[in-house]
Amino acid sequence: MSTLQHHNGDTMPMIGLGTWKSAPGEVYEAVKTAIRLGYRHIDCALIYGNEAEIGRALTECLQSGVVTREELWITSKLWNDSHAPADVQSGLEQTLAALQLDYLDLYLMHWPVAIKKGEGFPLTKEKLVALEVLPIATTWQAMEALVQQGLTRHIGVSNFSVHKLRSLLATANIPPAMNQVELHPYLQQTELLKFAQDHDILMTAYSPLGSADRPSSLKGQDEPILLEDPTIVEIATHHKATPAQILIRWAMQRGTVVIPKSVNPARIEQNLAAVNLTLTTEDMNAIATLERHRRYVDGSFWVVEDGPYTLANLWDESSPPAMRPI
Ligand code: A2P
Repeated sequence: MSTLQHHNGDTMPMIGLGTWKSAPGEVYEAVKTAIRLGYRHIDCALIYGNEAEIGRALTECLQSGVVTREELWITSKLWNDSHAPADVQSGLEQTLAALQLDYLDLYLMHWPVAIKKGEGFPLTKEKLVALEVLPIATTWQAMEALVQQGLTRHIGVSNFSVHKLRSLLATANIPPAMNQVELHPYLQQTELLKFAQDHDILMTAYSPLGSADRPSSLKGQDEPILLEDPTIVEIATHHKATPAQILIRWAMQRGTVVIPKSVNPARIEQNLAAVNLTLTTEDMNAIATLERHRRYVDGSFWVVEDGPYTLANLWDESSPPAMRPI
């Protein structure tokens, strides 16, 4: 398995199994199949609502000896309603209990967005907490304490811009090891990736296949279908590979971790086999031209009337992505 190295020398498998949208009833088999086929990295989050089932699968794999805990890389994420320092450790402990683990390999702040404890969708401005009131730096300090207690080996963030990474680096005692963001040929995140690489922060690509199975409420009209992009399909045909494999291999060759989600055994296997491909410079150059700043997960669900979050302050971009020309 190809790995990336954290600054302390720890290695992280570049391909992980994504579990967002993997329904309870499906994810148990998916995780067991993935581990049997050679996956050693599972990407989880409390909010996905399936960690207990993933925990059952992990426990069975560990007990049967298919894999050891040390060989696995397990990531999970702090939900937005647990940003208050007093709630951070219990957020992680809830995840550890569900996953039936003593520690995580990586714990991420899921979004740079805070919600009042126990609140959820549909959001109102009363349920949201501004970052000026509950700063990221304050949440981060509580996350640093989790490392000191041995509850997670690494901590990081998700959905962070260059601006937010820069601010966090200015105050952090433990710098973020990871920034997990949406990343694929339609949203290449070149500037963010360069900043992260210059500051020893690894990047994970989520929604690497375009997340076509996300809820319709998160979908725009006439969305471009990444897996059907003619350039990707042509490169796939040339390599006798599938479009998904090209997308996964592209992410790896750009030096990012990648977490394709699948609950289908054949596709779980196919996605891992992307490791065996090599894209040429011409392939990489052709894919570079596909950038169109298309977010499939645009964060607009955090934006409510008179609320503290806007697309501009979420992504630290002056114009909302959806307004940009394709
Ligand atoms: P399934 O779980 O039935 O395999 P993303 O990782 O970008 O969120 O994309 C996940 C979506 O892509 C799911 O609908 C998943 O369906 C599908 N998918 C996963 N692997 C492949 C593949 N190799 N070929 C086509 N679709 C795939």
